[in-house]
Parts: sequence; C-alpha cells; structure tokens
Amino acid sequence: MHTEEFSLEGVKNELYQRHHPSLTNIDIEAHAETVYNILKLKKKHNVLMLGHNYMEPLVFGLSETSEQGDSLGLSMHAAKTEAQYIIFNGVPFMAETAKILNPLKTVLVADKSAGCSLADNFGAEDVKKLKALYPGVPVMIYINSYADAKAESDICCTSANAAKIAQAMPGEEILFVPDIFFSQNLEQELMGEKTVLYPGKGNQEPGAVCEVHERFSLQDLLAIRDSFEIPKGHPERILYAHWECRPEVLHEADYYGSTSQIRRDIAKRVEENTLERAFIASECELTSNLAQEFPTIQFWTACSVRCSHMAKVSLDKVLRILETLDSGGDLSPHEVTLSPEVIEGARSPIERMLEMSD
Ligand code: 13P
Ligand code: SF4
Repeated sequence: MHTEEFSLEGVKNELYQRHHPSLTNIDIEAHAETVYNILKLKKKHNVLMLGHNYMEPLVFGLSETSEQGDSLGLSMHAAKTEAQYIIFNGVPFMAETAKILNPLKTVLVADKSAGCSLADNFGAEDVKKLKALYPGVPVMIYINSYADAKAESDICCTSANAAKIAQAMPGEEILFVPDIFFSQNLEQELMGEKTVLYPGKGNQEPGAVCEVHERFSLQDLLAIRDSFEIPKGHPERILYAHWECRPEVLHEADYYGSTSQIRRDIAKRVEENTLERAFIASECELTSNLAQEFPTIQFWTACSVRCSHMAKVSLDKVLRILETLDSGGDLSPHEVTLSPEVIEGARSPIERMLEMSD
C-alpha cells in the first residue's frame, strides 16, 4: 500500500480510492485503524511483508505490489531480502521455504496451525516409501510440502515451473509427489516426453490432493460456461484453472497456470484490450484481488471455494505479531523454526529449482 500522507486519514483515503466491490465504507471504517497500525509498525521495524495471492484483499494490500505473488515469486523474494524480519502472509509451508533460503532471518506467520491438505497428508516417510519403490528415479516434490519431505527429494517445483523442471531432469522417468491431480496434469502436459510416476499409479501409496481445487468438477465448469456465458473459444471471455484442479477441469479451461501466471495472462489481455469476462477455477480470494486490480473486467467467482488454511491469516493476527515485536515480547508462537539438518537437506532441492527458474 502506498500512502501519500502516512496517517490514519491517508490510509482511509487510499482504501476508499480502491473502489473495491467487496470493500464498503462499513468495512473501511471498521478496519482502517488496524491497517494503519500494521503499516506504521511494519515501517518502524523494516519488516518485509510477503502476501500470497490467496490473502483476503485487506491483508493482501498490506504488502507492496512487488511483494505479492505465487509460491515461486515469494520464495525468490525471501531469498534475497536484507530485512531481519519477514512476515509471511500465507501458510506455514510457504514460510518454511523463506526460512530455508534465508536462515538467519526471523520468519513469522500469523497462524502456525494453518495447514494445507497437500503438505499435511504427505510427509518425509511417504517420500521414502515411494523412493524405495523406484530406486534411481529423480524425485520432484511440489512446494506444497513440509521441509522434512523436501529434504528427501532431489528437486522442488511450483505450479509455475513444474513442466520446465520435469523436462530438464535427467532420465526418462520422474517421480512427482504428492499432488495426484497435478501429477496427472503434468503427465498430460509432457505428452509422453517423460514418464511421470506418482502416488497411486501402479503402487498403493495414497498421495494427496488440494481440498480446495478438487471441489471443481467438469460439470461445474460446464455449468459456469453456460450460466456466465463464457462459451468455449470465445475470444474475450476466458475460463482459467489452477494446476491443482482435476485433469478434466484443466482440459476444459481456456488457460491454466500458477496464481501469478493467471494474473499475468489477465494483465496482458487487459493491456491488449481483449478481455471482457473471466472465471477462475481456484481459491476465491485470488479473484477478489484480481477484481480490485482490473476493475474493468467482469469477474465471476465461487465465494465458498475458500482455503480455510489461508483464511486463518487475518489483520488482527498480523497486528499481534507486530505489536509483540514492538514491545520486545515473545515471538515464538509466530516464528518458523527448523533444525539445521532439515534446513540443510531442504535447501538444495529448493535452490536447484530457483536456478532453473526465470
Ligand atoms: P501458487 O504457487 O500458484 O501460488 O499456488 C499455491 C497454492 O497453494 C495453490 O493452491
Ligand atoms: Fe493447500 Fe489447497 Fe489451500 Fe493451496 S488452496 S494452501 S494447495 S489446501
């Protein structure tokens, strides 16, 4: 957020100027003071505040535009910051990546209990079991996993670079964990160029799926096309999907990518004046944030498709971290800590990924 004049009034004015459809004067009057207090303390302590694209708009707006993004972009940012304190507005597996890449910094999250159905349901032991079934096959792990599982893997990837990294790995096979839908989507994308092995494919390992993206079915997408009048092939009405969706959903979509790739595609079409209407099969606050950034586009969203883990990050909790920091209190309830061994083990798969990303 850029405030011309840094005062409560200045912050309020900026919130009013956003003209966001879901930000009424009632919301602004209720939350402006908290936003102001957060920004004041953020500045005072030179805190880097990273914001994932799934943050609710008021939390998302606490981060500078260049400090908002997808898992890949935020990791890159965390790796190069000089700031001693990083508040990561996202879920803990993302904050762990920041800690691994910049271990001398203090990485803080609003709610350590926020999980992720992918990371929570597939740990280091699961990676070991699959590795034992496919000795010698490189293991590529999705960033939505905890550090100890990454430490058992050869390379990490995000939804922004999975296909590129899989193609560049040696050998004819790749073992991808833990997301089953993503694995199947990757298999389709690589079109036989490489064999993708994954949990449940010729083995008994359960793997995991995203509990948010699995909710979109092909029938839902066809109904959305119909009711929101986004026919297939329409040049200015686009149906987007995230890589974590079911294969048939991705197949139906007009464009798929990571959250930031979807944003960039929209920005490009807006610049070319070729986008009128869009639906995004992903977490609903992504659409809220895009609706604020691109007010001329008609966005449709499924409001109930909210990630309950991402939703645990609230303005009040972010303010609590900063107030604790300001008073010299105990930050441990918010601090992400990892053992030196896990940091060491997880660093190389993440760094290898970053070396292969633009
Ligand atoms: P992105 O890397 O695309 O931001 O996705 C992260 C995520 O958790 C998607 O559900
Ligand atoms: Fe995990 Fe899905 Fe939530 Fe992303 S949207 S954090 S993959 S549960």
